[in-house]
Amino acid sequence: MKSIVLIGFMGAGKTTVSKELSTALNARSVDMDDILVERIGQPISEYFEEHGEASFREHETKLLKEALNEETVIATGGGVILQKENQKVLADKLVVYLKADANVLIKRIREDKVNIRPLAIKNDDGDLKRLFFSREKLYEKLAKITVDTSEKTPAEIVSEILQQVEVIS
Ligand code: S3P
Repeated sequence: MKSIVLIGFMGAGKTTVSKELSTALNARSVDMDDILVERIGQPISEYFEEHGEASFREHETKLLKEALNEETVIATGGGVILQKENQKVLADKLVVYLKADANVLIKRIREDKVNIRPLAIKNDDGDLKRLFFSREKLYEKLAKITVDTSEKTPAEIVSEILQQVEVIS
């Protein structure tokens, strides 16, 4: 199995889908944000405050390269597509874009009381929408497969990913 890399904006469902997809494939799943929290030893929002986003992005790039050395299902953080280095690394990988309507994403982000995102704290809904639109083309460009998750259950999304993987393999 080739590694499958899930990309998409915050709230797209990358974590949930990666767990279900890895179960379906009997593969390991790597949640980059979870590992990064362990590595930096504090919540991402605190790390952004104390060390800045650029430092977080360095950890993220290092981890992405490590994660890609193994055959896994990888749930990335929403900003992984920003770094040129990451874009290069992802160019020939099986990248799946979990797409959703901007309003759906913002609703999910605001309702998530467990995962407090630094970019959601400092940005209002209008800013988040602009951030989404500024990244949308990058997600689309890097994706080999795109699944619209707006009105689908994780099981439906997994089954669509598996179907599309078969088509392009
Ligand atoms: C970020 C998304 C977050 C996390 C960090 C930055 C982003 O991950 O990596 O807060 O820049 O979009 P999720 O997409 O899992 O929320």
